[in-house]
Amino acid sequence: MRITFPASHERIGAVRIHEAGRIIELDSAGDRCEADARADHAFLSSEVLESAHRRLTVVVPIKNERRSTLRGVLAGIPGGCRVVVVSASEPQPIDRFGLEREVIDDFVSRTGRHVLHVHQRDAIVAAAFEQSMPELLDGAGLVKWGKGEAMLVGAMIAREFDSDAVGFIDADNYVPGAVNEYVRIFSATIASMKSEYTMGRISWQSKPKVDEGSLVFNRWGRSTTVSNQVLNEVLSHYLGEGTRIITTGNAGEHVVSMPLAGRLRFTGSFGAETGQFIDLMEQYGGIIPPIGDVPERVDVIQTETINPHFHEDKGEEHVAIMRDQSVATITDSPICPPHVAEAYRTEVPVPDRYPAFEARPAIDLERLEKGGAGDVER
Ligand code: GDD
Repeated sequence: MRITFPASHERIGAVRIHEAGRIIELDSAGDRCEADARADHAFLSSEVLESAHRRLTVVVPIKNERRSTLRGVLAGIPGGCRVVVVSASEPQPIDRFGLEREVIDDFVSRTGRHVLHVHQRDAIVAAAFEQSMPELLDGAGLVKWGKGEAMLVGAMIAREFDSDAVGFIDADNYVPGAVNEYVRIFSATIASMKSEYTMGRISWQSKPKVDEGSLVFNRWGRSTTVSNQVLNEVLSHYLGEGTRIITTGNAGEHVVSMPLAGRLRFTGSFGAETGQFIDLMEQYGGIIPPIGDVPERVDVIQTETINPHFHEDKGEEHVAIMRDQSVATITDSPICPPHVAEAYRTEVPVPDRYPAFEARPAIDLERLEKGGAGDVER
């Protein structure tokens, strides 16, 4: 695989946000070749990628998606990666969680892969987390609903698997080949990182939509356009000059090295992705006093894919909720300059933010096993 090195980066405190790199070649033959020596791109051999896949856990949050789409997503995740599917699918009127389980069992029995399938609202999951992250539980004693909450559940499970990194892939992707590319980029990012505190974010080449019978290859989605703009305005304020470097404000597909994942304060619901930028700037941006020690460098590597991103279109109302939650997460931050907060203030409740899990006790993985939650390696 060959990926161009980012041409430049913006720096805020210890955080370097790199301009998006591009894919030159998805799969490169041989260990080495003439072009390896060139300084403009990274070369990742199949061996390097495969070994990185084995150190990666991929978390798939899912809520009421089609079985065929989930089957495609699982098929696209490279062999070697562990998979954790965190579901919030409804049991009524159709048992969608049961349908997912059928797809997963079939995949596991044919491939011998390790896939853990848990339901976010299962009492067994709540019991496994109650010591380690009680903040995740609601009044009913269950893990709260929300995509960001599912991601935190998955990340903490990945830590128990001793993975070097945790990646996130949405379950509503129609193109298994794109999923495969995203995870290859995750592994390439982790295999070539310069700081153990690294995050890799996928910048979609395009997000096509059908418009009056034609396929339109939009560069950005409807929510991403706004959240990128707001994040870049916050960043520009502190840089003292305009920047448009952030192209992955809403990147559901991203990877985080485990040391960084453990220090991040995850944001719930659809504030999850913009919340990561905000948390990095709050903790390591040198803007407000840090809450702990600050690593020498924290890298945000953005990579533009070669595949377009085709996913389920859930309608305008859904996009508006996502956009508002993403933006509210930014405007609620103490680092958001007043003029930006004023310009983009929304009415939605601000998504919850959770403490870092690095210093928290291990989750009770055995309890998840006992609940028959899925195939945990024994
Ligand atoms: N477990 C769980 N719990 N999964 C959820 C939940 C939840 O409460 N809500 C959504 N999901 C799953 C969906 O099934 C899908 O696989 C993925 O999370 C993304 O959710 P969508 O509702 O499909 O969002 P999108 O693809 O339109 O939105 C984009 O922007 C969001 C806001 O930043 C994506 O990039 C999202 O990943 C991103 O969070």
